[in-house]
Amino acid sequence: MAKKTLEIAYEIFNSPEELSPSDRALYDEAIAAMTRSYAPYSQFNVGSAVRLSDGRVFQAGNQENSAYPSGLCAERVALFAAHNDLRGAQISDLAVAGGRVHQTALGEDAGKAAPGTLLLADEAVCSCGACAQVLLEFEEPQHPVNILFIGKNSILKLQGAASLLPFAFQK
Ligand code: THU
Repeated sequence: MAKKTLEIAYEIFNSPEELSPSDRALYDEAIAAMTRSYAPYSQFNVGSAVRLSDGRVFQAGNQENSAYPSGLCAERVALFAAHNDLRGAQISDLAVAGGRVHQTALGEDAGKAAPGTLLLADEAVCSCGACAQVLLEFEEPQHPVNILFIGKNSILKLQGAASLLPFAFQK
C-alpha cells in the first residue's frame, strides 16, 4: 500500500486589470459569450471562449432544452465547435464566465439592471467534470491548455486539463 498526495497549482486574480493582455482579451470574450447562452430553465448564463493556436476564438453559451439532459455546457459547445474546425491548429486557451444576463426590464428583473446587462457570479465559475474530460482529450500533451475561470470577485488561472480532472477516464 502506498499513499500519494496531489498538488494543484493555480493563480488567483482579484481583478481583470491584473491579467496579461492575452488573458484579458479572452476574459472579455468569455463574458461576451454569456449573451449566447440559452438558459430558460436554470437562468444561469454561462459563456465560454476557446482560443486556438492560430488565434481564432470560438465563443459559446450553455444551451438548455426542455428535455433537460439534452442540454450542453458552454465549454463543450465551444470545444466541439473549435475541434470541428481545427484546420491544423490546437486548442491553446479556455475561459469560462457565468452569472446572469438580464433579459428584460420586466418581471423578476424589473429595476435590477438594464436589459442585456451581464451580472457575473460572485466567485469564479469552474467547469464540470464532463467538460474537463472533453478538454483533456482535445489537449495536446505537450501544450497544456491555459484555463481561466471567471467570477466577479476572483479569476482562477490553471495550466492543463489534468489540473481539473487528475483521474480522468482513459481507455
Ligand atoms: N453549465 C455550464 O455551461 N458549464 C459547466 O461547466 C457547468 C454547468 C451550465 C449547464 C446548465 O445550463 C447551467 O450551467 C446550470 O447548471
